[in-house]
Amino acid sequence: VRFGDQELARGQGGEVHQVAGGDTPVLTTNLGTPVSDDQNSLRAGARGPSLLEDFHFREKIFHFDHERIPERVVHARGMGAHGYFESYDSLSDITRADLFQRKGEKTEVFVRFSTVAGNKGSADLPRDVRGFAVKFYTKEGNWDLVGNNMPVFFIQDAIKFPDLIHAAKQEPDRGFPQAQTAHDNFWDFISLTPESMHMIMWAMSDRAIPRSLRFMEGFGVHTFRFVNAEGKSTFVKFHWKPRLGMQSVVWNEALKINGADPDFHRRDLWDAIQTGDYPEWELGLQLFDQDFADKFGFDVLDPTKIIPEEEVPVRRVGRLVLDRVVDNFFAETEQVAFCTQNTVPGIDFTDDPLLQGRNFSYLDTQLKRLGSPNFHEIPVNQPRGCPFHNFQRDGHMRMTVNRGRANYQPNSWGQGPRECPERGFTTHPARVEGEKVRLRPESFADHYSQARQFYISQTEIEQGHIAAALTFELSKVETPAIRTRMVSHLRNIDEGLAKKVAQSLRLELPEPAPAAMPTRMDLQKSPALSIILNG
Ligand code: HEM
Repeated sequence: VRFGDQELARGQGGEVHQVAGGDTPVLTTNLGTPVSDDQNSLRAGARGPSLLEDFHFREKIFHFDHERIPERVVHARGMGAHGYFESYDSLSDITRADLFQRKGEKTEVFVRFSTVAGNKGSADLPRDVRGFAVKFYTKEGNWDLVGNNMPVFFIQDAIKFPDLIHAAKQEPDRGFPQAQTAHDNFWDFISLTPESMHMIMWAMSDRAIPRSLRFMEGFGVHTFRFVNAEGKSTFVKFHWKPRLGMQSVVWNEALKINGADPDFHRRDLWDAIQTGDYPEWELGLQLFDQDFADKFGFDVLDPTKIIPEEEVPVRRVGRLVLDRVVDNFFAETEQVAFCTQNTVPGIDFTDDPLLQGRNFSYLDTQLKRLGSPNFHEIPVNQPRGCPFHNFQRDGHMRMTVNRGRANYQPNSWGQGPRECPERGFTTHPARVEGEKVRLRPESFADHYSQARQFYISQTEIEQGHIAAALTFELSKVETPAIRTRMVSHLRNIDEGLAKKVAQSLRLELPEPAPAAMPTRMDLQKSPALSIILNG
């Protein structure tokens, strides 16, 4: 039968079939057996019960039943694309990382942008942080720069991450709200976590509702280390600067966009790349040494602090271009596995306690999410710039067929790869010593100065947006004590802001929060803090 542009066949019961022929291949089972009929299950008589021997039906349903994998525990909603990174200069004086050795060198990349708190099916424009994760397929291994669109973070120690995320995700009894907006648990946790105040200023600013993914900055957040061929270490902060500049929407627009097109950011990125309008960012570095770190007023290991660009200017060292959409969302965007520990010779960690915790967390969660220790064999995760060889073997879904007798070394069969002291990754021998303690350093104790600096760096209109965002969010908080605690923090950031928010919420101005992070001793001694804690 001809139906519009389709040539269809009819089955005995009158149902339509599209049949193979010409360029159209034959439908088969997963093991290649050709299928004659994909419209009807095998039954005992046309109106009879289904038969267990229908292997095609069982395989098809079995596979479908297992299609979903767990969504990411955070950053579940994301959008990925392929592209390249091009170095402007050789940085061999500061790092031996291969991708930075040659001017003009191009390195393949895969980038995934994400929201943090919402589930996989949530909308693109909640007031939230955005993930900005880049996988560089370098000639000496994959390097992942797993960043955000804000340069600081809510907490100083990874041990608080489960609490932060539990508080930010939907509340456990009622299952809402889905995103980090307007709820008691989130603001309860934040109001009891003074170290989050700097990040809260960013998260309540226009940066949390970007116009599109193409108009966002990105940051590696932590202080990392570059190490050159002579073993000299330089501290580095990573920045991504969008070629299009930075733009945001206002809250009113964000709400409408979420309603009209929850895929607004996804669609924008897809359309831009498909029409050849390739999004571009420049990679910027802030480079400094131990002397600067010792003199700087804040601890460079504290991820709630920035290094002002006026003090250490950002040096632009290359550009990132996204020029290819994915072929398959699941295979690439869902299955990609970024990890702060994926690093290469020449790029090393510092003792930032948030970074140290992240280094454990990603690999661990990905084993659960992707289901097998062999997830590095999924094409999007495999190294592309270099081969990989080791003696790790077997496990669920192993794809590589390892040959030979030796699955260990040293071996006397001359089989398999060997270590390479000259080219291999070596950890920078930073000196460490100390007692085993659970103790926040005093140098991490100032939670308000940089929050204030950020607030006063904003234009009047932007400051108005921050006040409006805080008012809107806190007005949805039902527990009065939480609102009061938040305003008492604001008093340490900016008196004008605190007054504006208090007035809009019809609150009396509370005492300012105690300024320094209290130690356990202070907690017992301080009546002021117990007032704050008890509202
Ligand atoms: C996922 C950034 C802190 C645990 C992600 C992703 C980004 C990101 C961009 C999404 C990756 C993707 O697109 O697949 C950051 C930044 C942080 C931070 C910038 C702080 C500076 C932490 C901490 C932990 C953590 C402290 C835990 C201790 C995770 C986990 C995932 C994730 C478990 C899901 C990974 C997956 O399932 O593939 N993070 N994160 N993150 N992050 Fe973080």
